[in-house]
Amino acid sequence: MKYNIDVHPVKSSRINEVDFSNLPFGRIFSDHMFTADYINGEWTNIQIIPFQNFSFHPANLALHYGQSIFEGMKATKTVDGTPVLFRPAMHSHRINASAHRLCMPDFPEDLFLQALHELIALDSEWIPTSPGSALYIRPYMFATGEFIGVQASDTYKFVIFTCPVGPYYSKPVRLWVEEKYVRAVDGGVGEAKCAGNYAASLYPAKIAKEKGYDQVMWMDAHEFKYIQEAGTMNFMFVIDGKVITPATDGSILKGITRDTILKILTYKGIPFEERKVAITELVDAYKNGTLQEAFGVGTAAVVIGVEDITYRDLVMKIPPMNIGKMLKEEIENIRTGRIEDKMGWLEPVKTVEAAV
Ligand code: COI
Repeated sequence: MKYNIDVHPVKSSRINEVDFSNLPFGRIFSDHMFTADYINGEWTNIQIIPFQNFSFHPANLALHYGQSIFEGMKATKTVDGTPVLFRPAMHSHRINASAHRLCMPDFPEDLFLQALHELIALDSEWIPTSPGSALYIRPYMFATGEFIGVQASDTYKFVIFTCPVGPYYSKPVRLWVEEKYVRAVDGGVGEAKCAGNYAASLYPAKIAKEKGYDQVMWMDAHEFKYIQEAGTMNFMFVIDGKVITPATDGSILKGITRDTILKILTYKGIPFEERKVAITELVDAYKNGTLQEAFGVGTAAVVIGVEDITYRDLVMKIPPMNIGKMLKEEIENIRTGRIEDKMGWLEPVKTVEAAV
Protein backbone atom coordinates (compact mmCIF):
# COMPACT_ATOMS: atom_id res chain seq x y z
CA MET A 1 0.00 0.00 0.00
CA LYS A 2 1.13 3.56 -0.72
CA TYR A 3 0.83 5.97 2.17
CA ASN A 4 0.31 9.67 1.98
CA ILE A 5 3.28 11.12 3.83
CA ASP A 6 2.94 14.87 4.37
CA VAL A 7 6.29 16.45 3.60
CA HIS A 8 7.25 19.78 5.18
CA PRO A 9 10.75 20.56 3.90
CA VAL A 10 13.16 22.83 5.73
CA LYS A 11 13.29 26.42 4.53
CA SER A 12 17.04 26.31 4.43
CA SER A 13 19.37 23.35 4.87
CA ARG A 14 22.00 23.19 7.65
CA ILE A 15 24.27 21.04 5.52
CA ASN A 16 26.82 23.79 4.87
CA GLU A 17 27.49 24.03 8.63
CA VAL A 18 28.76 20.42 8.68
CA ASP A 19 32.42 19.48 8.43
CA PHE A 20 32.17 16.21 6.51
CA SER A 21 35.88 15.58 7.05
CA ASN A 22 35.27 15.25 10.79
CA LEU A 23 32.11 13.31 11.64
CA PRO A 24 31.83 12.27 15.28
CA PHE A 25 29.37 9.40 15.74
CA GLY A 26 25.78 10.44 16.43
CA ARG A 27 26.15 14.14 17.14
CA ILE A 28 25.23 15.67 13.79
CA PHE A 29 21.62 15.40 12.64
CA SER A 30 20.35 15.77 9.09
CA ASP A 31 17.68 18.26 8.04
CA HIS A 32 14.55 16.11 8.22
CA MET A 33 12.86 13.44 10.30
CA PHE A 34 9.91 11.13 9.80
CA THR A 35 7.21 10.89 12.46
CA ALA A 36 3.92 9.02 12.86
CA ASP A 37 1.53 8.63 15.79
CA TYR A 38 -0.37 5.55 16.87
CA ILE A 39 -3.78 6.69 18.05
CA ASN A 40 -7.02 4.68 18.32
CA GLY A 41 -5.36 1.57 16.93
CA GLU A 42 -3.91 3.10 13.77
CA TRP A 43 -0.86 4.99 12.53
CA THR A 44 -1.74 8.58 11.68
CA ASN A 45 -0.13 12.07 11.39
CA ILE A 46 2.35 10.49 8.98
CA GLN A 47 4.83 13.15 8.00
CA ILE A 48 8.36 14.27 7.23
CA ILE A 49 9.23 17.47 9.05
CA PRO A 50 12.32 19.53 9.83
CA PHE A 51 14.48 17.86 12.55
CA GLN A 52 13.18 19.30 15.82
CA ASN A 53 12.49 18.71 19.53
CA PHE A 54 9.40 17.01 20.93
CA SER A 55 7.50 18.11 23.98
CA PHE A 56 6.12 15.52 26.40
CA HIS A 57 3.60 15.16 29.17
CA PRO A 58 5.47 14.61 32.49
CA ALA A 59 3.67 11.26 32.91
CA ASN A 60 4.84 9.96 29.51
CA LEU A 61 4.77 6.17 29.93
CA ALA A 62 8.01 5.55 28.03
CA LEU A 63 9.93 7.72 30.49
CA HIS A 64 8.54 5.84 33.49
CA TYR A 65 8.28 2.21 32.38
CA GLY A 66 10.56 2.01 29.39
CA GLN A 67 8.41 1.13 26.37
CA SER A 68 11.06 2.35 23.95
CA ILE A 69 12.64 0.39 21.09
CA PHE A 70 14.96 1.28 18.24
CA GLU A 71 16.97 0.17 15.24
CA GLY A 72 20.32 1.22 13.85
CA MET A 73 20.81 0.97 10.10
CA LYS A 74 22.85 2.64 7.39
CA ALA A 75 22.56 4.28 3.98
CA THR A 76 25.62 4.74 1.79
CA LYS A 77 26.34 5.91 -1.74
CA THR A 78 27.70 3.55 -4.33
CA VAL A 79 30.68 4.70 -6.39
CA ASP A 80 28.32 5.90 -9.15
CA GLY A 81 26.56 8.15 -6.58
CA THR A 82 23.40 6.07 -6.05
CA PRO A 83 22.11 6.24 -2.47
CA VAL A 84 21.38 2.75 -1.13
CA LEU A 85 19.83 1.24 1.98
CA PHE A 86 21.34 -1.91 3.46
CA ARG A 87 18.88 -4.75 4.23
CA PRO A 88 16.03 -2.41 5.29
CA ALA A 89 13.39 -5.18 5.45
CA MET A 90 15.45 -7.04 8.08
CA HIS A 91 15.34 -3.93 10.26
CA SER A 92 11.59 -3.65 9.79
CA HIS A 93 11.17 -7.27 10.92
CA ARG A 94 13.44 -6.78 13.90
CA ILE A 95 11.77 -3.61 15.17
CA ASN A 96 8.44 -5.40 15.00
CA ALA A 97 9.88 -8.35 16.94
CA SER A 98 11.07 -5.86 19.58
CA ALA A 99 7.63 -4.17 19.52
CA HIS A 100 5.93 -7.52 20.11
CA ARG A 101 8.12 -8.28 23.17
CA LEU A 102 7.52 -4.82 24.64
CA CYS A 103 3.74 -5.00 24.05
CA MET A 104 3.85 -2.25 21.43
CA PRO A 105 2.04 -2.12 18.06
CA ASP A 106 3.54 -3.32 14.79
CA PHE A 107 4.77 -0.66 12.42
CA PRO A 108 3.69 -1.67 8.87
CA GLU A 109 6.65 -2.84 6.80
CA ASP A 110 5.47 -1.04 3.65
CA LEU A 111 5.20 2.24 5.57
CA PHE A 112 8.63 1.68 7.15
CA LEU A 113 10.18 1.21 3.71
CA GLN A 114 8.30 4.10 2.09
CA ALA A 115 9.29 6.40 4.97
CA LEU A 116 12.94 5.41 4.59
CA HIS A 117 12.94 5.98 0.85
CA GLU A 118 11.27 9.39 1.09
CA LEU A 119 13.39 10.56 4.02
CA ILE A 120 16.71 9.43 2.58
CA ALA A 121 15.84 10.75 -0.89
CA LEU A 122 15.13 14.15 0.65
CA ASP A 123 18.38 14.14 2.69
CA SER A 124 20.57 12.18 0.25
CA GLU A 125 23.13 15.01 0.20
CA TRP A 126 23.80 14.17 3.85
CA ILE A 127 25.20 10.71 2.99
CA PRO A 128 28.95 10.99 3.53
CA THR A 129 31.26 9.21 1.12
CA SER A 130 34.65 9.06 2.84
CA PRO A 131 35.89 5.52 3.66
CA GLY A 132 34.10 4.00 6.66
CA SER A 133 31.45 6.71 6.80
CA ALA A 134 27.71 6.36 6.24
CA LEU A 135 24.37 7.94 6.97
CA TYR A 136 23.34 6.23 10.21
CA ILE A 137 19.56 5.83 10.38
CA ARG A 138 17.80 5.64 13.72
CA PRO A 139 14.19 4.38 13.56
CA TYR A 140 12.55 4.18 16.99
CA MET A 141 9.20 3.88 18.70
CA PHE A 142 8.14 4.93 22.16
CA ALA A 143 5.02 5.13 24.30
CA THR A 144 3.25 8.47 24.50
CA GLY A 145 0.50 7.54 26.97
CA GLU A 146 -0.02 10.01 29.84
CA PHE A 147 -0.66 7.87 32.89
CA ILE A 148 1.46 6.47 35.71
CA GLY A 149 -0.20 3.10 36.22
CA VAL A 150 2.05 0.27 35.03
CA GLN A 151 0.48 -0.79 31.76
CA ALA A 152 1.14 -0.80 28.04
CA SER A 153 0.44 2.57 26.49
CA ASP A 154 -2.51 3.07 24.11
CA THR A 155 -0.56 5.61 22.05
CA TYR A 156 2.93 5.65 20.50
CA LYS A 157 5.21 7.73 18.33
CA PHE A 158 7.39 6.29 15.57
CA VAL A 159 10.34 8.40 14.45
CA ILE A 160 13.20 8.09 11.98
CA PHE A 161 16.08 10.54 11.98
CA THR A 162 19.51 10.29 10.40
CA CYS A 163 23.10 11.26 11.22
CA PRO A 164 26.12 11.38 8.91
CA VAL A 165 28.72 9.35 10.80
CA GLY A 166 32.33 8.27 10.65
CA PRO A 167 33.57 5.01 12.21
CA TYR A 168 32.13 4.19 15.66
CA TYR A 169 35.50 2.97 16.98
CA SER A 170 38.80 4.44 15.90
CA LYS A 171 40.91 1.51 17.14
CA PRO A 172 40.62 -2.11 18.34
CA VAL A 173 38.77 -2.44 21.62
CA ARG A 174 39.89 -3.74 25.01
CA LEU A 175 37.30 -6.04 26.60
CA TRP A 176 36.64 -6.86 30.25
CA VAL A 177 34.88 -10.18 30.97
CA GLU A 178 32.11 -9.18 33.38
CA GLU A 179 31.33 -11.64 36.18
CA LYS A 180 29.15 -9.59 38.49
CA TYR A 181 26.65 -7.68 36.35
CA VAL A 182 24.61 -9.08 33.46
CA ARG A 183 23.08 -7.59 30.34
CA ALA A 184 20.25 -10.06 29.84
CA VAL A 185 18.67 -13.16 31.32
CA ASP A 186 16.74 -16.05 29.78
CA GLY A 187 13.13 -15.02 29.35
CA GLY A 188 14.03 -11.32 29.61
CA VAL A 189 14.30 -8.73 26.85
CA GLY A 190 17.89 -9.40 25.73
CA GLU A 191 16.84 -10.19 22.18
CA ALA A 192 14.78 -7.01 21.86
CA LYS A 193 16.49 -3.81 20.79
CA CYS A 194 14.97 -1.88 23.66
CA ALA A 195 16.28 1.11 25.60
CA GLY A 196 16.34 -0.80 28.90
CA ASN A 197 19.04 -3.22 27.71
CA TYR A 198 21.33 -0.30 27.03
CA ALA A 199 20.47 1.41 30.34
CA ALA A 200 21.39 -1.82 32.17
CA SER A 201 24.76 -1.88 30.43
CA LEU A 202 25.85 1.63 31.41
CA TYR A 203 27.00 1.10 34.98
CA PRO A 204 29.12 -2.03 34.30
CA ALA A 205 30.52 -0.28 31.20
CA LYS A 206 31.43 2.75 33.33
CA ILE A 207 33.30 0.56 35.81
CA ALA A 208 35.09 -1.23 32.96
CA LYS A 209 36.05 2.13 31.41
CA GLU A 210 37.44 3.31 34.73
CA LYS A 211 39.71 0.23 34.66
CA GLY A 212 40.91 1.16 31.16
CA TYR A 213 38.67 -1.09 29.04
CA ASP A 214 36.49 0.06 26.18
CA GLN A 215 33.70 -2.46 26.53
CA VAL A 216 32.28 -5.23 28.65
CA MET A 217 32.16 -8.83 27.46
CA TRP A 218 28.74 -10.02 28.66
CA MET A 219 28.35 -13.50 30.08
CA ASP A 220 25.27 -15.61 30.70
CA ALA A 221 23.32 -14.71 33.82
CA HIS A 222 23.30 -18.15 35.46
CA GLU A 223 26.89 -19.39 35.54
CA PHE A 224 28.90 -16.50 34.06
CA LYS A 225 30.30 -19.18 31.83
CA TYR A 226 28.96 -18.59 28.32
CA ILE A 227 29.77 -15.55 26.20
CA GLN A 228 26.83 -13.40 25.05
CA GLU A 229 27.92 -10.11 23.45
CA ALA A 230 30.80 -7.64 23.40
CA GLY A 231 29.43 -4.30 24.58
CA THR A 232 26.88 -3.14 22.01
CA MET A 233 28.01 -5.68 19.41
CA ASN A 234 27.81 -9.37 18.66
CA PHE A 235 31.07 -11.22 19.26
CA MET A 236 33.05 -13.54 16.96
CA PHE A 237 36.44 -15.17 17.22
CA VAL A 238 38.60 -17.42 15.07
CA ILE A 239 40.21 -20.67 16.20
CA ASP A 240 42.25 -22.66 13.69
CA GLY A 241 40.65 -20.86 10.72
CA LYS A 242 37.08 -21.46 11.95
CA VAL A 243 34.87 -18.52 12.93
CA ILE A 244 32.89 -19.12 16.11
CA THR A 245 30.06 -16.99 17.46
CA PRO A 246 27.59 -17.49 20.31
CA ALA A 247 24.23 -18.79 19.05
CA THR A 248 21.35 -16.37 19.61
CA ASP A 249 19.41 -17.93 22.44
CA GLY A 250 16.81 -15.31 23.31
CA SER A 251 19.17 -13.21 25.41
CA ILE A 252 21.49 -12.12 22.57
CA LEU A 253 20.55 -9.50 19.98
CA LYS A 254 19.95 -11.02 16.55
CA GLY A 255 22.42 -8.71 14.85
CA ILE A 256 21.89 -7.92 11.18
CA THR A 257 25.63 -7.44 10.68
CA ARG A 258 26.08 -10.79 12.44
CA ASP A 259 23.66 -12.40 9.97
CA THR A 260 25.37 -10.63 7.03
CA ILE A 261 28.74 -11.99 8.15
CA LEU A 262 27.49 -15.55 8.52
CA LYS A 263 26.14 -15.34 4.95
CA ILE A 264 29.44 -13.94 3.65
CA LEU A 265 31.33 -16.75 5.40
CA THR A 266 28.94 -19.23 3.76
CA TYR A 267 29.48 -17.94 0.23
CA LYS A 268 33.24 -17.62 0.77
CA GLY A 269 33.39 -21.20 2.03
CA ILE A 270 34.94 -20.20 5.36
CA PRO A 271 33.88 -22.60 8.12
CA PHE A 272 31.92 -21.19 11.03
CA GLU A 273 29.96 -22.39 14.03
CA GLU A 274 27.07 -20.79 15.91
CA ARG A 275 26.80 -22.39 19.31
CA LYS A 276 27.20 -21.93 23.02
CA VAL A 277 30.71 -20.62 23.68
CA ALA A 278 32.27 -20.99 27.12
CA ILE A 279 34.83 -18.38 28.15
CA THR A 280 37.09 -21.31 29.14
CA GLU A 281 37.17 -22.38 25.47
CA LEU A 282 38.56 -18.97 24.56
CA VAL A 283 41.10 -19.18 27.38
CA ASP A 284 42.20 -22.70 26.34
CA ALA A 285 42.59 -21.59 22.71
CA TYR A 286 44.59 -18.58 23.84
CA LYS A 287 46.85 -20.73 26.00
CA ASN A 288 47.47 -23.36 23.33
CA GLY A 289 48.08 -20.71 20.66
CA THR A 290 45.07 -21.46 18.41
CA LEU A 291 43.13 -18.26 19.13
CA GLN A 292 43.78 -16.26 15.95
CA GLU A 293 41.29 -13.39 16.01
CA ALA A 294 38.44 -11.83 17.96
CA PHE A 295 36.14 -9.07 16.77
CA GLY A 296 32.88 -7.31 17.52
CA VAL A 297 30.25 -6.89 14.79
CA GLY A 298 27.35 -4.46 14.59
CA THR A 299 25.74 -1.82 12.40
CA ALA A 300 27.52 1.10 14.02
CA ALA A 301 30.88 -0.63 14.46
CA VAL A 302 30.71 -2.85 11.32
CA VAL A 303 33.64 -5.14 12.29
CA ILE A 304 36.05 -3.97 14.97
CA GLY A 305 39.08 -5.88 16.15
CA VAL A 306 39.74 -6.74 19.78
CA GLU A 307 43.09 -5.73 21.22
CA ASP A 308 42.84 -7.78 24.37
CA ILE A 309 40.35 -9.60 26.57
CA THR A 310 40.83 -9.63 30.33
CA TYR A 311 39.36 -12.61 32.18
CA ARG A 312 40.09 -12.40 35.91
CA ASP A 313 43.88 -11.90 36.04
CA LEU A 314 44.56 -13.22 32.55
CA VAL A 315 45.09 -10.62 29.81
CA MET A 316 44.67 -12.32 26.43
CA LYS A 317 46.45 -10.33 23.71
CA ILE A 318 44.62 -10.87 20.42
CA PRO A 319 46.50 -10.83 17.09
CA PRO A 320 45.38 -8.36 14.39
CA MET A 321 42.36 -9.30 12.28
CA ASN A 322 42.68 -11.28 9.09
CA ILE A 323 39.29 -12.89 8.37
CA GLY A 324 37.72 -10.01 10.31
CA LYS A 325 39.48 -7.48 8.05
CA MET A 326 38.27 -9.30 4.95
CA LEU A 327 34.69 -9.28 6.32
CA LYS A 328 34.81 -5.57 7.09
CA GLU A 329 36.12 -4.81 3.60
CA GLU A 330 33.56 -7.09 1.96
CA ILE A 331 30.71 -5.28 3.73
CA GLU A 332 32.12 -1.83 2.90
CA ASN A 333 32.73 -2.87 -0.71
CA ILE A 334 29.18 -4.17 -1.10
CA ARG A 335 27.75 -1.02 0.48
CA THR A 336 29.68 1.21 -1.87
CA GLY A 337 29.02 -0.89 -4.98
CA ARG A 338 32.70 -1.74 -5.43
CA ILE A 339 31.81 -5.41 -5.64
CA GLU A 340 28.70 -7.17 -6.81
CA ASP A 341 25.79 -7.28 -4.36
CA LYS A 342 25.10 -10.92 -5.10
CA MET A 343 22.87 -11.41 -2.07
CA GLY A 344 20.57 -8.52 -3.04
CA TRP A 345 21.21 -6.64 0.20
CA LEU A 346 21.24 -3.15 -1.30
CA GLU A 347 18.05 -1.27 -1.99
CA PRO A 348 18.62 1.81 -4.18
CA VAL A 349 16.81 4.80 -2.67
CA LYS A 350 13.97 5.89 -4.91
CA THR A 351 14.07 9.49 -6.09
CA VAL A 352 11.78 11.87 -4.18
CA GLU A 353 9.32 11.79 -7.09
CA ALA A 354 9.33 7.98 -7.33
CA ALA A 355 9.16 7.47 -3.58
CA VAL A 356 5.89 9.43 -3.09
C1 COI B 1 24.12 -0.25 16.23
O1 COI B 1 25.13 -0.89 16.01
O2 COI B 1 23.45 0.26 15.33
C2 COI B 1 23.62 -0.07 17.58
O3 COI B 1 22.45 0.06 17.75
C3 COI B 1 24.63 -0.02 18.66
C4 COI B 1 24.74 1.30 19.36
C5 COI B 1 25.07 2.48 18.52
C6 COI B 1 23.61 1.54 20.30
